[in-house]
Amino acid sequence: VLPSAQGTSLVGRHVLITSGPTYEPIDPVRYIANRSSGKQGHALARAAKDMGARVTLISGPTHLPDIPGVTTAKVETAADMLDAALGALPADVAICAAAVADWRAATQAMEKLKKEEGQTALSLALARNPDILATLAAPGARRPTLVIGFAAETETIITHAQEKLSRKGADWIVANDVSPDTGIMGGDRTEVHLVSASGVEDWPAMSKDEMAVKLLGRAAEALQTMQLA
Ligand code: CTP
Ligand code: CA
Repeated sequence: VLPSAQGTSLVGRHVLITSGPTYEPIDPVRYIANRSSGKQGHALARAAKDMGARVTLISGPTHLPDIPGVTTAKVETAADMLDAALGALPADVAICAAAVADWRAATQAMEKLKKEEGQTALSLALARNPDILATLAAPGARRPTLVIGFAAETETIITHAQEKLSRKGADWIVANDVSPDTGIMGGDRTEVHLVSASGVEDWPAMSKDEMAVKLLGRAAEALQTMQLA
């Protein structure tokens, strides 16, 4: 068990993490998805396990290997990810790192959709998916002590992150710039801002593994402080 830099550990804690994209079926051969490698979520799961936590990782489809010692639930849709997350409660910390599809096909065709002769356009009706982070962060007996979300943005990063913090009721939002020119998406490095009710901390660029260790260290400290309070 690796204590964090501050000497805190996550022994005895349950950490719930969502990771990867979701796939929302349109018909048996097509789906709507987000771009997500799952690297950050899986790095968080590894870091939490290394700090002694019991870890439940709820992952959409990724190419990443299973993590020994981490209980992993593999899901495809946002609805299944939400069910798995609620089923894994209670947890001390919930971290929503998944890139959940905001929309799913309003109706799912049972047979492969075929083009009509001469058809040049198609409209697809979409329905809003449940918000897993907002659901976990909602007040209630089963709310995890610390609920953390991510905000991948391409402009006005901090403003968007602060808006998500209050709209979703999360304790912290980890905001990062995913504009195409940063090369962050799908890569191994990240540069984030930790946004909470007490302000904004700019963290230097680091690997996704280092960021995971730093964030879990902060979570361990926060849990300890909350318990003493
Ligand atoms: N999230 C979630 N369930 C959803 C959508 C988002 O749990 N249906 C979580 C993500 O895992 C992330 C945070 O909410 O931790 C922010 O996701 P993001 O897509 O940036 O926020 P949205 O509210 O979907 O806003 P946007 O319109 O910018 O996509
Ligand atoms: Ca979204």
